Amino acid sequence: PRKIIIDTDPGQDDAVAILLALASPELEVLALTAVAGNVPLALTQRNACQIVELAGKHIPVHAGCDAPLARKLVTAEHVHGKTGLDGIPLPDPAHPLHGQHAVDFIIQALREHPTGSITLCPLGPLTNIATAFQRAPDIIPKVAEIVLMGGAYFEVGNITPAAEFNIYVDPEAAEIVFRSGVPLVVMPLDVTHKALTSREWVEEMRSLGTPVGQAVASWTDFFERFDTAKYGSAGAPLHDPCVIAYLIEPALFTGRHINVEIETGSELTLGMTVADWWRVTKREPNAMFMGGVDRDGFYRLLTERLGRL
Ligand code: BDR
Ligand code: CA
Repeated sequence: PRKIIIDTDPGQDDAVAILLALASPELEVLALTAVAGNVPLALTQRNACQIVELAGKHIPVHAGCDAPLARKLVTAEHVHGKTGLDGIPLPDPAHPLHGQHAVDFIIQALREHPTGSITLCPLGPLTNIATAFQRAPDIIPKVAEIVLMGGAYFEVGNITPAAEFNIYVDPEAAEIVFRSGVPLVVMPLDVTHKALTSREWVEEMRSLGTPVGQAVASWTDFFERFDTAKYGSAGAPLHDPCVIAYLIEPALFTGRHINVEIETGSELTLGMTVADWWRVTKREPNAMFMGGVDRDGFYRLLTERLGRL
């Protein structure tokens, strides 16, 4: 199986992504590393522990950075609720966090494993990853690939008119990651807004009759109340599970290998992912920027895998 580290700020959609990974034999989740994002770190780290326990797995959870590199934390309780994981109450975590800081863990794991054997999967702001790269540049060439949820191009912003939440929260960190030279696969809103839930799928989750099915249905219901009102769409975008689905079944997604730069200066367009989709510059491509997803295939995969937990 492919070794991955999931860096996350759960988040209902992060939670579904984590469950999908934990249900998939193609992937070996070395650890979850929590970062501040949708809600403050104290909550994202706790949520991460609860999700692992809901799945009945024993995967270490490391707490990471509690604030962006250079800015004040912006959170998204308006989307995810007070806890970040509103929708269904989960038991207090029975197992404690791992004592090692997430950044130290990421550095150590990459140093200890052979080059090209660990894939990083960021589902939140890129603070932990950028901090690790800054502190230990020797690990950068050791990363196999980074597959992340973030950014937007044709679909533009969901936190400001120009920017997607994960990139907006820590644009300096995003810039470090996008300029790192590590092969990147990016799942922007252009993809995730095509991966909307449907009523039928939520009911299918509920009818699994398992704690996981119940939680996924309740989270999605909660999440949907916001997105349906906001986007007038059929359902809620399951952003972060796109990252994990790509690792399992890359053919579900289509995109272009292009140059993507991060806006860190302008107040108006801060955190924008300026994607050279039409290749109008000579800038070196640095990211596989996705644009399309086979929606039915994506939900088929989710149903099949979540049913295993
Ligand atoms: C991203 O922001 C968060 O609210 C979601 O968990 C997802 O990672 C979408 O913009
Ligand atoms: Ca997230």
